[in-house]
Amino acid sequence: MNTEAGAEEGPRPVASVIALLTWYDKARRKLPWRALPGEAADPWAVLVSEIMLQQTTVATVRSRFTPFLQRFPTPSALAAASMDEVLHAWQGLGYYRRARALKACAEAVVAIHGGVVPGDLPALLDLPGLGPYTARAVAAIAFNRMAVPVDANVARVLGRVIALELPPARAARTLQAAADTLADPIRPGDVAQALMELGALVCSPKVPSCLICPLQSDCRGFASGEPERYPGRPEVKERGARFAVMFLLEDPNGAFLFRQRPATGLLAGMIELPSTPWQAEPPDAPQVRDAAPIDAAWQEVPGEILHQFTHLDLSMRLMRARITASSPPGIWMPPEGFSTLALPTLTVRLLRHAGIWPEAGSKRSR
Ligand code: ADE
Repeated sequence: MNTEAGAEEGPRPVASVIALLTWYDKARRKLPWRALPGEAADPWAVLVSEIMLQQTTVATVRSRFTPFLQRFPTPSALAAASMDEVLHAWQGLGYYRRARALKACAEAVVAIHGGVVPGDLPALLDLPGLGPYTARAVAAIAFNRMAVPVDANVARVLGRVIALELPPARAARTLQAAADTLADPIRPGDVAQALMELGALVCSPKVPSCLICPLQSDCRGFASGEPERYPGRPEVKERGARFAVMFLLEDPNGAFLFRQRPATGLLAGMIELPSTPWQAEPPDAPQVRDAAPIDAAWQEVPGEILHQFTHLDLSMRLMRARITASSPPGIWMPPEGFSTLALPTLTVRLLRHAGIWPEAGSKRSR
């Protein structure tokens, strides 16, 4: 850094980039979307991984990333696929809105950039589905541009380094400014990934491993003796509770009735069992009767199934019946075909509960 009197100086770094990168070179995990040292990153793979990782854990993305990328190796391949195919391939990753956003993004990359992911931050920010975090992550990791993305892990690391009293959501600018002081002209992608990795492996939410942290001597949270107090926590919102009765209807050929969810909202466009509305009180007998797809001898499959979304707990009961004659309209599918449907985990759990999910023991989640 030039320290002569009168010389322009940028803001002082909040922490040592050298210590951070030295630690990263030793501690970095091998991840399927991460280029090995010296290798060039594939921008499309980085973009896909960052969208997957927005709300899903590394462990879950780890097992699903490679099959998804093999199926859609380029923006053009994803843009050309049907939404159903994309939702199906997204199964297990949860928050399906991101699958729609990724498809819209791929379509824009094809329409505006000839199928090539652009490298500069303004062009990335203009793509649908890419917010400030994802655009910066792609710019830094895939194109080595001087950008430092701030996700929840990075916000926690920096929030501790600067002993931020506010919750990160209320201090986005302060955190981005702190992050920008670490932008490194030589290894921007590694700085970005090092901060993410530090948040994931060392600066954990409850019990940070400060003794092995490369930023310990820079960290005001550590100096305070109570690093876990930082950054401040958001006020806890109460989770909603919802109740529903789901219907499993089988025809004489052994096919089961499904329907498609609306194109917007929770689990948009996914395939589910018919059900009562999800409501604040358990549905009563007339509500169950009205919602049933057909008048039949419905039998309850014993037990209650609780499914947790981030913002609500859904408590379900399952009714089962067989029909002998006319079948109501909908999507009829035998168990051998279930894996071709874009079924959310919630539906898979109901099918398992009834003992008819053919891949018992498979590791689908969320
Ligand atoms: N979380 C978000 N992006 C990540 C990345 N590129 N590597 C590891 N964890 C991440």
